[in-house]
Amino acid sequence: MSDQAKLETGGKTYEFPKLSGTCGPDVVDIRKLYAQTGQFTYDPGFTSTASCESGLTFIDGEEGVLLHRGYPIGQLAEHSSFMEVAYLLLNKELPDQSELDEFIYTITRHTMVHDQLRQFYQGFRRDAHPMAIMCGVVGALSAFYHDSTDISDPEQRKIASHRLIAKMPTIAAMAYKYAVGQPFLQPQNDLSYTGNFLRMTFGVPAEEYEVIPAVEKAMDRIFILHADHEQNASTSTVRLAGSSGANPFACTAAGIACLWGPAHGGANEAALNMLHEIGTPDKIPHYIERAKDKNDPFRLMGFGHRVYKNYDPRATVMQKTVREVFDALDVKDPVFETALQLEEIALNDDYFKEKKLFPNVDFYSGIILSAIGFPTTMFTALFALARTVGWVAQWNEMISDPGQKIGRPRQLYTGPTQRDYVSIDKR
Ligand code: ACO
Repeated sequence: MSDQAKLETGGKTYEFPKLSGTCGPDVVDIRKLYAQTGQFTYDPGFTSTASCESGLTFIDGEEGVLLHRGYPIGQLAEHSSFMEVAYLLLNKELPDQSELDEFIYTITRHTMVHDQLRQFYQGFRRDAHPMAIMCGVVGALSAFYHDSTDISDPEQRKIASHRLIAKMPTIAAMAYKYAVGQPFLQPQNDLSYTGNFLRMTFGVPAEEYEVIPAVEKAMDRIFILHADHEQNASTSTVRLAGSSGANPFACTAAGIACLWGPAHGGANEAALNMLHEIGTPDKIPHYIERAKDKNDPFRLMGFGHRVYKNYDPRATVMQKTVREVFDALDVKDPVFETALQLEEIALNDDYFKEKKLFPNVDFYSGIILSAIGFPTTMFTALFALARTVGWVAQWNEMISDPGQKIGRPRQLYTGPTQRDYVSIDKR
């Protein structure tokens, strides 16, 4: 097989090298395309474009495979913890016990936020969406931690990464507390990362909060499932923002903004709202027909994925976790029955089969989060909390890459050609 790709254009043939990764399709290296041919490629939405080299996460969308540093997501969700996965993503290898203990110690000691940050919260309306608060407050971290914004210093990059991972649960819990009008709770160092987050969210100063181990485990697993996902929209946003040399707090705020959209992180909120709107299983056929109707903007939220053309492996774990949480809390939610039936009907429908539309991670996550007690508006904030690990790991990988360049896509210009300015009285 040739290791060169040939392109014929303008009566000439050009050769471009092919690069092979450890898994996945080869890529055609077109870095010299413009210099050699004077032409660009056109790929809106980057459906065929590898924007970087990365050793973090591999997805085989056809087979429904997701690996972090080589480890399958199912194994990590079953046997690992969010802190261990965070260490793995940041440091390339799973930690031994003392490395993990040290990492947890460090993260635990960075969970408090600067006290002045509470004033930012007071500036928001009580009904502000938690993602609006997260965008603002996380961006504002750059104004508080000047000693970790020199991105050329690996030690400062490390501290900023630890700060972001550690403070995100505190910031998200504060957004929740502000909305419900309860006092902020300070982190408590004898709790786990996830237990701490649950207490800061659902605890009140008037009484002791008891972390329910099964809920803590489920929440931790949800965090694992959201930790990283290759070059998705928000991660690419973080990389693009970071490519200009912006500090990691600002870049993470950019990632949060991108994640907010209903086609990305906002889908779990949209999926649960949709399930409630459908209500009972007898209404499913009507909504399936709507999803298939080209003239109707309605889509089955939590279905379909840019990369997965098979069952999202995270959705498999999510579905199992719903049952565990329901058992632990002794709750039943008719919406879960609706979701199971909707999935079955969609998976047997020709439209969804032909387009390879399967449930994604968001289809079941909302049901679990709702059973735990989170309002739908918090769902995307929780996603942001967990994805911060992936964002900072990807950002670190990019900054450490000596070949890193500012991200600067080109365009196919379709506007007017050059014309002369016309004064206002002559228009
Ligand atoms: N319901 C109905 N039809 C759908 C759905 C859906 N959920 N998703 C895709 N389709 C159809 C499209 O209408 C399109 O049909 P066409 O070929 O006849 O025009 C075809 O399937 C391909 O869809 P695209 O939107 O072109 O695929 P793309 O890869 O750009 O989009 C996306 C992927 C945005 C996730 C899409 O499937 C979607 O909107 N899903 C619902 C939102 C959602 O669940 N997002 C969460 C993604 S996972 C995450 O961010 C963690």
